[in-house]
Amino acid sequence: MYLKIPSILLYFMKERKNIFVANWKMNKTNNEAISFLNDFLPNVKDSKHVIIIAPPATALAEMYSLTKSSNITLASQNIFYKDEGTFTGEISALMAKQFCSYVLVGHSERRHLFGETDDDVNKKIHSALAQQLNPIFCIGETKEQKDAGKTESFLNTQLTSGLKNVNSEQIRLIVFAYEPVWAISKGKQDTNTISATPEDAQKAHEFIRDWISQNYSIEIAQNAKITYGGSAKPENASELMKQKDVDGLLVGAASLDAEKFLKIIEC
Ligand code: PGA
Repeated sequence: MYLKIPSILLYFMKERKNIFVANWKMNKTNNEAISFLNDFLPNVKDSKHVIIIAPPATALAEMYSLTKSSNITLASQNIFYKDEGTFTGEISALMAKQFCSYVLVGHSERRHLFGETDDDVNKKIHSALAQQLNPIFCIGETKEQKDAGKTESFLNTQLTSGLKNVNSEQIRLIVFAYEPVWAISKGKQDTNTISATPEDAQKAHEFIRDWISQNYSIEIAQNAKITYGGSAKPENASELMKQKDVDGLLVGAASLDAEKFLKIIEC
């Protein structure tokens, strides 16, 4: 039977490192990426946090040569689930792992704009794991689901289908990203989107951690990294990070600016 650990004990058991992910989406030419790194790298060289940047695929090789001896790790924004073949426009885990240690899987823009299903997400997770790439597994409810009180049942569906046949060794390699669809901004010009409140984020993160505990083990749940994404910015980063089950932030628009992303990391 699943035993719930009292939160005070969990607090003292918390050994998880903070993790900050920049998701640049379809932004930055290689020159812009280099200029970001010139401003960013000297300021994070002593950072104890896990810092990951997901640039567009076109910048991966250049970014890799500039970051490989730093404490920055790269993520691919996407992969297809086959290693090679007649899949015009796609890149595979085998290709991404030349430059990356992580890959975003199941981002809401991939699901909603490009029609990715839970089954695709599951195949991508297995393909990433087979190539020793750590999946950053994104899940989150829409506004309609939130308003209908269906957040947890929807997260349960996404977790169950996305992690089908993922065993208890593989699950340790996965970073979870709770990204409520309604909180994700439309980019750097979008000032209207609001982030989840720290309390709402905590509630969803606690649900995800409990789910991992029930489906894997308390120890795996305790060590699982669960990041929040959706309009994270310097102004709200510290309140979000104070929540007991929020281990990091996945940042879109605010990560395009080195100064803003640094402020978030230092929050
Ligand atoms: P945002 O994007 O920070 O611009 O809301 C987050 C994400 O989609 O990963």
